[in-house]
Amino acid sequence: MAIAIYPGSFDPITYGHIDITRRARKLFGRLVIAVVANPHKNPLFTLEERVELTKDALREEGLSEIEVTSFDGLLVECARAHGADAIVRGLRANSDFEYEFQMALANRDLAPQFESVFFMTAGNYSFLASSMVKEVASYGGDVSNFVPKSVQKALREKLGAR
Ligand code: PNS
Repeated sequence: MAIAIYPGSFDPITYGHIDITRRARKLFGRLVIAVVANPHKNPLFTLEERVELTKDALREEGLSEIEVTSFDGLLVECARAHGADAIVRGLRANSDFEYEFQMALANRDLAPQFESVFFMTAGNYSFLASSMVKEVASYGGDVSNFVPKSVQKALREKLGAR
């Protein structure tokens, strides 16, 4: 059974990530979501919060069997530690391609044994990004179409407390 690792910032997890998770778990015997400790972007949620929120959201969506871990440093080291065969990423639009292509080739150069596998997100999530969810939530907008209830609550608490 092939093992895949699905890395990202997950700041926070959205229905777009969940859509990719559902697609990937159909093809892989084991899927591990790996939350990066230090994303380039200044995260809204701490690493511990992003891991907990990801677990909560997966539970809410009936995906509690999906493992969630965190990593610091190189993704390929995390993939190695989990015995992964593949690295999963989602593609929303053409604009994602260049960044993903660069990352996949860098990862291949570092560790050619891992195949990067891309899943196309559902059309209705093709515009969805964690950054957009945070912006809408920061102005008090409705994000119920974008993130599960547990994440909506966390966004209210975090942004309301600012
Ligand atoms: O959700 P994101 O922010 O697009 O995820 C980016 C992520 C975490 C997959 C990427 O930044 C990453 O793999 N970081 C770990 C450092 C690393 O391995 N870099 C080399 C590959 S470019």
